[in-house]
Amino acid sequence: MKLISANWKMNLTPSQTKEYLQKFLPLIYGLEGREVLICPPFPSLCVASEMLKDSSIKLGAQNCHHDKKGAYTGEVSLDMLKELGISYVIVGHSERRWIFGESDEFVNKKITACLKASVRPILCVGERLEEREAGLTFKVVETQIRLALSGLEEFTDSLDIAYEPVWAIGTGNPATPEDAQVVHAYIKDLLCHINPKHGGKTRVLYGGSVNPRNSGDYMRMKDVDGLLVGGASLEPESFAQIIKSF
Ligand code: PGA
Repeated sequence: MKLISANWKMNLTPSQTKEYLQKFLPLIYGLEGREVLICPPFPSLCVASEMLKDSSIKLGAQNCHHDKKGAYTGEVSLDMLKELGISYVIVGHSERRWIFGESDEFVNKKITACLKASVRPILCVGERLEEREAGLTFKVVETQIRLALSGLEEFTDSLDIAYEPVWAIGTGNPATPEDAQVVHAYIKDLLCHINPKHGGKTRVLYGGSVNPRNSGDYMRMKDVDGLLVGGASLEPESFAQIIKSF
C-alpha cells in the first residue's frame, strides 16, 4: 500500500495539533487504498494518539534513541514512544544528519533498535547539492543505505526508505518526478542486491518540496511508493489534497 506521511518537524503545539486533527479527520474520512502517517513533534504525540485511536491514520515519531533507557538528557526511547501508540519512526533525516551531526553509525543503531522494538523505521537518505553537481548522487545514497542497514540486510522488508535530496527539502525546488524515479529505481535495485529474497518489498518514498500541485506527478512514477511531506503537511487542507491526489 502507498504511504503518505507528514513530517511536521518542530511545528504545531499540542493545542494546535488538536485543532489540526479536528479539521483534518473529516477531510479524509472514508478514504481507502493508502496508508496515512502523521509524525508530530514529541510533546504533541499524546494528544494526537488520543485523537487518532479510532482512526486508521498511523502515528510516528521524528526521532528516537537506540537504548532502552538511561542517562541521555533530552532523548526519548522507543518504549516511551510505543506507549503513545506510535508505529513508525523517521530515522536519519537530513536535518538530524547535518544540523545535529548524526552519523551513519548512529543511524544504524537506531534502525536496529526500531526493528527490535517492532517499530517501522523510515530511513531517510539523499545527496547534498555539491554531491549532486559532482555526479555523486548514486554513490552517496548507496553508502548511506549500506551503512544504515549494515548487519540488518535480511530485514529490508520491515522498513521504508525516503529519498530526500537535501537541496530539495524546504526550498520549493523539488527534484523532477523523472529524476526522483531514476534514483528510486536505483535504490530498489540496490535493495534487491542487498536482500535478493525480500529487497523488492521495501517502499521507497520521495520527499523534498512536495505540494498539492506536484504530488500526483510523483505518485504516477513507477518506483515512487509514497511521499514524505514537510511544509505542505502543516495545513490540514493541503495535506488532505496531497493524500487525495492519486
Ligand atoms: P519539505 O520537507 O516537504 O518541507 O521539503 C520534507 C522533509 O524534510 O521530510
